[in-house]
Amino acid sequence: MNNNLACALDRLADGENAIPPLEMAAREGSVMAAAILDHLAGDDERRAYDTPHAFEIFIRAGGNPPLYESVSTALARLYERFAPRRLLDIGAGDGMALLPALNATSRRPHTVDVVEPSAELLARLRPQLSAGTARQQTFQAFASRLASGQPWDMAQATFSLQSIPSVERLEALKRLRSHVTRLVVVEFDVPVFDDARDRHASLARRYEQAAREYREQAPLVAGGFLAPMLLGQLQATTPSNFEQPIAAWQDEITRAGYRIASATHLHDYSWAPAWLIVAEA
Ligand SMILES: C[S@@+](CC[C@H](N)C(=O)[O-])C[C@H]1O[C@@H](n2cnc3c(N)ncnc32)[C@H](O)[C@@H]1O
Repeated sequence: MNNNLACALDRLADGENAIPPLEMAAREGSVMAAAILDHLAGDDERRAYDTPHAFEIFIRAGGNPPLYESVSTALARLYERFAPRRLLDIGAGDGMALLPALNATSRRPHTVDVVEPSAELLARLRPQLSAGTARQQTFQAFASRLASGQPWDMAQATFSLQSIPSVERLEALKRLRSHVTRLVVVEFDVPVFDDARDRHASLARRYEQAAREYREQAPLVAGGFLAPMLLGQLQATTPSNFEQPIAAWQDEITRAGYRIASATHLHDYSWAPAWLIVAEA
């Protein structure tokens, strides 16, 4: 099953007809192959956060609860240690990492500002934030309009910088630097492959495994979130994801002008290990 899915990914990446191996993989029971076939049959291009319901199920089940618990616990520890009065969350989603962290600390920031481009995710988060501003914006747009006198003690971005194309991300991080004291980033340490075939075999295995963790909701999560994410990674549609190994994240943050204070392994997730980077502006 994963061999046929991997073969289909090879073909998609090369712009060739992937339908025959996808159909074979789907007949063998591949949830991802069925979801990709459905996408290819549609005439609209769906991106990873266009179906927020699928994303919300994705982050609340499968291997995500223990991952998010480790992330929120680590954030709460940082609030205890640095006592930020003003906090900025970049790409906060519906607050899955942010809200439990705020609830777990005795040193809750006085103001929590969030930036999140998805109107639906922001609508769920907004009522749960007491003091602060919730902007429906991309990080790039937000950073390009930053004015002086907007200092944050801490800016955090959990699994959101990977959604932003690398060149725009570096520029936005550079612009943010003079407005923050500290930057906290949580991202996956994804493997790199010299050979495209090896990369596609790894993607086929990891996506199929991730989809299967959702049991009866697997078709919804695979169709609404994982398939557009995967097709974007293959450049078969507009990319939704620009992830990289953790060493490359550190390098990028350093190039944006920050000083890396620590990089810590947080949790071994099925996708890849999650890491926490703390940087001084
Ligand atoms: C994997 S989710 C993580 C959400 C949240 N930080 C969490 O840990 O649950 C990625 C988030 O990045 C947001 N996002 C996508 N593009 C973005 C951009 N250009 N600027 C800021 N956030 C973006 C998505 O809407 C989504 O909420």
